[in-house]
Amino acid sequence: MLRDIGDILPAKPEASEKALPLEEFKERRARFLKELNGAVAIFPSAPVAFRSNDVEFVYRQDSDFYYLTGFPEPESIALFAPGHPDGEFILFVRPRDKEREMWTGPRAGVEGAVAEFGAAQAYQISELDRVLPRYLEGVAEVYYPLGINEKFDQKVLKLLREAQSLRERLGEGPRALLDPRAIVHEMRIIKSPRELAIMRRSAAIAAEAHRVAISKSRPGMMEWEIQALVEYVFRVNGASSPAYPPIVASGPNATILHYIANNRELKPGDLLLLDAGCEYQFYASDITRTFPVSGRFTPCQRDLYEIVLAAQRAAIETVRPGVTLEDVHRSALKELVEGMRAMGLIKGETDEILASGEYKRFYMHRTSHWLGMDVHDVGRYRIRGEPRKLEPGMVLTVEPGIYIAPAEESVAKAELQGIGIRIEDDVLVSADGYEVLTAAVPKTVKELEALAGS
Ligand code: GLY
Ligand code: MN
Ligand code: MN
Repeated sequence: MLRDIGDILPAKPEASEKALPLEEFKERRARFLKELNGAVAIFPSAPVAFRSNDVEFVYRQDSDFYYLTGFPEPESIALFAPGHPDGEFILFVRPRDKEREMWTGPRAGVEGAVAEFGAAQAYQISELDRVLPRYLEGVAEVYYPLGINEKFDQKVLKLLREAQSLRERLGEGPRALLDPRAIVHEMRIIKSPRELAIMRRSAAIAAEAHRVAISKSRPGMMEWEIQALVEYVFRVNGASSPAYPPIVASGPNATILHYIANNRELKPGDLLLLDAGCEYQFYASDITRTFPVSGRFTPCQRDLYEIVLAAQRAAIETVRPGVTLEDVHRSALKELVEGMRAMGLIKGETDEILASGEYKRFYMHRTSHWLGMDVHDVGRYRIRGEPRKLEPGMVLTVEPGIYIAPAEESVAKAELQGIGIRIEDDVLVSADGYEVLTAAVPKTVKELEALAGS
């Protein structure tokens, strides 16, 4: 049966929310080239992955490769050669091919790599062996990320070995293989104004999906129907896909942290934990809401929910430049532990419970991760062993929860068993505090009951 899902109309994106302009990639490349200090960097595109037999997964470019090039096609290599007379940004790409393009769609080709993507030079990928050595001449250090594309790993390592074997004869040549991710990931962790426009759009689409899911959920529906609604809203708004498999976890399934089977029927009285975000123009959103499918929290559910909400608010309030994710986590933990004590879930003093980690029975994950092109985005969490300080332009999630397993013997009240609650928002560190990018999804008990019952 097809359910009426009403008018889910995509709000039109602003010009700044449509796609990153070439200018943004040029600025990134200029900064990256400076960081190379004369070394050469080589990046492989993501490999094509097969789903089953000859059916491929939808191709998704490697995030670092895309971050620097904006080039979405497989079978390509990006080369950065600071100060090289033939150009500093070189792309090796699949050639135009009338017949192949009839099967799999248009390719930029060598001409497009220059004209549309700003490469100083472009070559067919088949010319890598011939051309790359030219750029390695006299270079002492080469950056290349191993482990992304095995085929290219083999190729590039072979060319490097050849360049190294010439070193003795020529008196110079590559001595060190370095990981360029150390540079790129530090760039990616601070989002530019243009990136933030795209991330706001990603957040807005995911927020709309959550509002629709909350308002349409009813007992008797299957979890996969909610998944379908959410993915519909993503796609109809131009998101390419979910940023990760949506978690649609009703009743006791909400206590399984990575539940993605999404095949249970929603029962009256259930809470539904929905963790879903989209990928829009290569940027992820990541939202969780937990709400009653019948439109009303039971008193027990509400008490637990208020604890998680208080923890999430306290954690968000902590966010500003100079604090660390440890501080954010501790703010959430303090509220969670005090709430759990008040409900009789854990006994003892708050400080002792925090020190012993006894709360991990009910809260076993961290409160935050970086968010960006990857849902668990890149960038160091610690610097020289110390938790890193937040800076303006960083984006993180704040996602505390409480999970009481269905057969948790330490919890006497049967009503509390099998309840899982998480509340997750995406938070930008601003100049003097924070901005919640996903504030458009309701999260108070009153708001959720009003929307869920609508
Ligand atoms: N959905 C993945 C996460 O919340 O970290
Ligand atoms: Mn998350
Ligand atoms: Mn999530």
